[in-house]
Amino acid sequence: MPANLQKDIIILAIESSCDDTAASVIKNGKILSNKVATQAIHELYGGVVPELASRAHQQNVVPVVDIALKEAGVGLNQLSAVAFTKGPGLIGSLMVGSSFAKSLAHALHIPLVGVHHMQAHVLAHFINDPKPQFPFLCLTVSGGHTQIVKLNSYFNQEILGKTIDDAAGEAFDKAAKILGLPYPGGPLIDKNAQLGDPKAFAFPQPNIPELDYSFSGLKTSILYFIQKQVKENPSFIEENLANLCASIQYAIVKHLMKKLQLAATQTGIKEISLAGGVSANSNLRKTLEETGQKLGWNTYIPAFEYCTDNAAMIAMTAHYKYLESIFEEEDTAPFPRS
Ligand code: KG4
Ligand code: ZN
Repeated sequence: MPANLQKDIIILAIESSCDDTAASVIKNGKILSNKVATQAIHELYGGVVPELASRAHQQNVVPVVDIALKEAGVGLNQLSAVAFTKGPGLIGSLMVGSSFAKSLAHALHIPLVGVHHMQAHVLAHFINDPKPQFPFLCLTVSGGHTQIVKLNSYFNQEILGKTIDDAAGEAFDKAAKILGLPYPGGPLIDKNAQLGDPKAFAFPQPNIPELDYSFSGLKTSILYFIQKQVKENPSFIEENLANLCASIQYAIVKHLMKKLQLAATQTGIKEISLAGGVSANSNLRKTLEETGQKLGWNTYIPAFEYCTDNAAMIAMTAHYKYLESIFEEEDTAPFPRS
């Protein structure tokens, strides 16, 4: 019987591209469970240590899958397919999720669905209502990527612009490190910025043509500014933490929004969305909504739990792939870069 004529389509999805081990169960396009085991060990090192990440995935994958299945009330024998993140990401981390998914699909004699991590961040918009209408623009901002994508249909995505160096999440994390904040620093900059003045310190805006982004110059200017100030006053960071965080956040969000606005003007598209870990940033969310109101956009931001890395977005993407019978061979290899 063709896959799409089965009664219920139930998929177990596994995400292990970086430092979160996640599993989700989806039934007929509805998320039944979404579990994440976060690896706290990396905080000690100020960033993700690939070798430690893959070891932690090995320890976490079975319990996380178990909890996701239990919470969904689904047994292994009910699964229609197993999905996994194929890339991009850390190769050792991807290997754990892909080996697990392949073995399970093989043992259960069911199809395997490979999912592109960045495509899944965008398709997270289809988990809840309201859903964007095609064609729509998505600013996808994570720890490894920053891109403006035009979605013509689920699997027809055009990248209109992208970062030529650091990603926006990396810019947040590197700036936080300069301020002495632990990894991942993005959420801490967001939190400290709440009480600060975004105009207290003026950091230069990158000057990059068309719809591309650049964040490395901003990072360097923050570093030199802080080094100079700390030389004159060793307590400069503690005394100005809120203002520094607010000003850094303002500079990053301004650059992100400028290119997004340009993309909307160039394409004439008014369905505008955010995706990826940095879309959890409160100032970016607020600025998108305010700009949208001013310019007549319909704006979309996934629920918080679907912004940062999660397996529900892998499950949602896998559901659409299953409907189109886009399956993966068992000897498929994960890819570290897009
Ligand atoms: O999508 P994601 O969870 O993982 C990757 O695929 O990279 O994104 C992680 C990134 C990190 O750089 C983290 O600092 C950033 O998202 N992030 C934030 C916030 N929450 C997560 N950045 C700024 N403000 C936040 N509230
Ligand atoms: Zn991600």
